[in-house]
Amino acid sequence: MREHWSKLGFILASIGSAIGLGNIWRFPYIVGENGGGAFLIAYFTAIIIFGFPLMIMEFAIGEKFKGSVVTSLKKIHPKIKYIGYFAVFVCLGILSYYLVITGWTLAYSVFSIFTQIDFTVFTNTLYPIAMFFITLLIITFIVRTGIKKGIERVCDVLLPTLFILVILLVVKALTLPNAIEGIRFYLTPNISSLSNPSMWLMAIAQALFSLSLGTGILITYGSYLKKTNIPKSSIIVIISDTLIAVLAGFIIFPIVFSFGINPATGPQLAFITLPKIFSFMAFGNFFQTIFFLLLFIGALTSAISMMEVGTTTLIDEFRLNRKKATLIVLGIIFIAGLPSALSYSGFSFTVFGKTFLDMMDHLFGDILLPVCALVITTGIMWFIKPKELLNEINKNSKIKIPGFIVPVLKYFIPALLLIIVLMELV
Ligand code: PFF
Repeated sequence: MREHWSKLGFILASIGSAIGLGNIWRFPYIVGENGGGAFLIAYFTAIIIFGFPLMIMEFAIGEKFKGSVVTSLKKIHPKIKYIGYFAVFVCLGILSYYLVITGWTLAYSVFSIFTQIDFTVFTNTLYPIAMFFITLLIITFIVRTGIKKGIERVCDVLLPTLFILVILLVVKALTLPNAIEGIRFYLTPNISSLSNPSMWLMAIAQALFSLSLGTGILITYGSYLKKTNIPKSSIIVIISDTLIAVLAGFIIFPIVFSFGINPATGPQLAFITLPKIFSFMAFGNFFQTIFFLLLFIGALTSAISMMEVGTTTLIDEFRLNRKKATLIVLGIIFIAGLPSALSYSGFSFTVFGKTFLDMMDHLFGDILLPVCALVITTGIMWFIKPKELLNEINKNSKIKIPGFIVPVLKYFIPALLLIIVLMELV
């Protein structure tokens, strides 16, 4: 018997998958690099015309075919099951380095209680590997305990906690001297950059990453649905995810401006720049702990969803039980993640001039993720009967999604994804 979510459990787990490093770490620095407020306009447009259609499609496919991403695609057409395997590969590839960073956030939140942390010193100890392994054990244990008793129960507790931590940090950040400068930078749109196509493509790529779309995560979560209003659930997930990303900006920019730092410092903002700033702040250790705990909770609930993609595939396709399936995924992720865990240490090596972890993030996060979203969407939309898809989406919803969503999914979204892939490659 297939397990089922409760209504709230499904929504919280999906929000948990969406909210993660993408919101709290990636979103603010991309806004910073793209000149502030104008990016927000592009991002809001991207989640409506791009994120929402993809999300309802994935949930509907999961709910209808009640199987892993491989199983569901196979039921649509036997030929596209290989796209399903590719999705599992991309998802686990992302998980392998995402979990290393999750481990950093765990280490930072624990160490921040006692001392100041220096990134270079930290990465030259054994802690990154130890923490990677500990977080891997934690998510394995949760996923192995099952959909309802494991994932759902954990998200029921962690998601409300995450919202409280965000509010605490927003209040602290907004009461810093000069906070208003940060807010002004954040919210003032630089209208001229709206005509820059690469900013729009960045916004779409960020929506893809942040909403956990394109690698079968939401198909997998949808496959454990019983009866749900898909459009309404999707809107709740999208609004919550966006709210946290926007609030993360209200944390980062006041802090950055209050201490006179360049807002476009890029990925090192969270692990190198912010700890230095916290050390000058009243109750800095406390707020630093809260900040990294927030990152850890967000990342953990996203990592769980990625592990579930591999686990559900092994259960549905190879008839393994959950215990065995999680153990196999654990082994794969441990081996695949080790080189990333060694990155920035004395054993670090570079590939194409990047550390292994950065190379993985570029290869999987920037290139293979949009490629995967492209082939999965095209594969599904090519073979599924439009009526079947629409029926599933609208089955339990009073407000009906109109038929023009079909050409949007079949032509418009793949075209955007293709442009993103080509742009990344050149
Ligand atoms: N959505 C998550 C985040 O914003 O951090 C993580 C994520 C999951 C990204 C799955 C990409 C993905 F395929």
